[in-house]
Amino acid sequence: MADDEHGAASDAEFHARAARWHGDLNRALHALYGERADFAAWQAKALQIALEAHRARPAALRALDRAREADPAWFLAPDRIGYSCYVDRFAGTLEGVSARIGYLQELGVTYLHLLPFLKMRPGCNDGGFAVSSYRAVEPSLGDMHDLAALAQRLRAGGISLCADLLCNHTADDHEWALRAKAGDAHYRDYYLTFADEAQTKAFEAHLGQVFAVTAPGNFTFSPELQAWVWTTFYPYQWDLNFANPAVLLEMAAAMLNLANHGVEVFRLDSAPFLWKRLGGDCQNEPQAHAIIQALRALAAIAVPAVALKAEAIVPAAQLVDYLGIGPSAGKECHLAYNTNLMTLQWAALARGNAELLAEGLMAMPRPPPNTGWLSYVRCHDDIGWGVLRGGPEGKARDWEALRGFLSKFYAGETENSFASGAAFQVTNAQAVHGTSGSLASLCGLERALLAGDAGEMDLAVRRILLMAAVSFAFGGVALINMGDELGQLNDLTFAQGPRYDGDGRWLHRGAMDWGQAALRTALGSIPGRVFRGFQALARARATLPLGRAPDLVETGPASVLRMHHRQSGAHFLLLANFSPREVPVALPAGVWRDVLQDKDGLSGELPLEGYGARWLLRAGIVNKTG
Ligand code: GLC
Repeated sequence: MADDEHGAASDAEFHARAARWHGDLNRALHALYGERADFAAWQAKALQIALEAHRARPAALRALDRAREADPAWFLAPDRIGYSCYVDRFAGTLEGVSARIGYLQELGVTYLHLLPFLKMRPGCNDGGFAVSSYRAVEPSLGDMHDLAALAQRLRAGGISLCADLLCNHTADDHEWALRAKAGDAHYRDYYLTFADEAQTKAFEAHLGQVFAVTAPGNFTFSPELQAWVWTTFYPYQWDLNFANPAVLLEMAAAMLNLANHGVEVFRLDSAPFLWKRLGGDCQNEPQAHAIIQALRALAAIAVPAVALKAEAIVPAAQLVDYLGIGPSAGKECHLAYNTNLMTLQWAALARGNAELLAEGLMAMPRPPPNTGWLSYVRCHDDIGWGVLRGGPEGKARDWEALRGFLSKFYAGETENSFASGAAFQVTNAQAVHGTSGSLASLCGLERALLAGDAGEMDLAVRRILLMAAVSFAFGGVALINMGDELGQLNDLTFAQGPRYDGDGRWLHRGAMDWGQAALRTALGSIPGRVFRGFQALARARATLPLGRAPDLVETGPASVLRMHHRQSGAHFLLLANFSPREVPVALPAGVWRDVLQDKDGLSGELPLEGYGARWLLRAGIVNKTG
């Protein structure tokens, strides 16, 4: 707590921010609750929560607030390399993560996403995505003090901590749910409950299914409530009722409290699902955006060092909306997962052709100023093929056939497939959902090692580094999924694991193999080659003139992706060959430097090996950075 003198000064700072964000906060709250007679009271309560959080904010974080206000694009610096992991799988506990900061720094990581670590439902909990308390750490991982200490150590080491904000649902044993079950009407109104099953059927007629195999349907009967509860995901994950303003304010208060423990980035879990409407698919509703905009405004007022990241696994056409559009451009999330880049990269790799990837990236709207994408090739979830639908105008395609092909290819079921993945939540051949598998296994390393085929191993490593080189070259935050930096394979024992619960995504959520990590300096080893490849990309990226997104993406020849960034006179060009064959590539005019291989004087035509990637800078414009 600040003393009185600083308190007064800092309240003035708060009020100045509140005045700056007043219009945005008001617009968002009004869109949600403007019709209510008690609207003004809720508005005042929202500001009171923000003020209390601001007053409780530690001095070091307030200093960070000021620094970030002066540098609003801080999270888009080219050295923003992210890493995502489960605390237990990576290092046992939060304290264990502290002890591994050196490893992360060696890799070049400046952003660490720890998957859910808050108190979770015992037994089945969807990998911690069924949260029992927003204000306590899962006891086996540590406590709130450990969280603050870890965040502080990470910050001192140049790493920003990202945590999930489970905003769409709580576990069915969260205090709110328990009180609702005990008959408390106030808390029952925190959830979406229906006494009459016919009502759920009316909604269900328009809804999709997330876990069609392990959790079909979107409603679960609660014997305690004698009602159906909305459960988009697992039956024990109860969707929250944001039509009740108390829920939004609880969520804001939970977020601000975690921010005051040092969380710098919030991953807004399942963001598209926050608002339900009869007759719609209950995703991407305007009110879902208003909820996020309200959270953003409150964060900007109370804890402006914090950034929000949308987890919106939606088609490209709906994606940029999460960065804000119209009067809210740049005032919703700072970041969103680039699902378009990710899925189209995998499509390019399977097809040996980069044209659809180039086209899809060119069709993406540019992110508003001070916002950007989080690029990734793998995360803890399946690769959701569902986002591949629709496309550039006039280019009618058989997206269903493409999704079906990709699902089969990455399950290793097509001719010439090199992948060892598994289809996820597939109910029938027509309803393709996603693919599970680690980066290395999907790129062919698992099969190559089984066959003891050195040539195939080499190709697999090249594919891994190709996928990373493309993703890292996009701009924004580049995210590594734990173990991918070592070429870690699928966990074939996943079905025996304590957290499995019938969910196939555990195939690629094995424990960190620290034995493999120890080999990272062994030059001839596969972990060594992959780790050094990632490390070189991270180091070189920090020196690149990357914009928020590329200026131009094209192909030439068809297997080669050409991604251009032009920034303050500098020209960066990525060349990535998605085919196994070497192809000649014509360089644009000028003399180029290969920043990864440290070679100068390139011009004219370049032979690009199968699955090769080059990062080129036009020489003479940007100084050699080494
Ligand atoms: C998000 C998470 C996923 C989880 C789901 C439900 O999509 O990434 O792992 O199952 O939300 O919380």
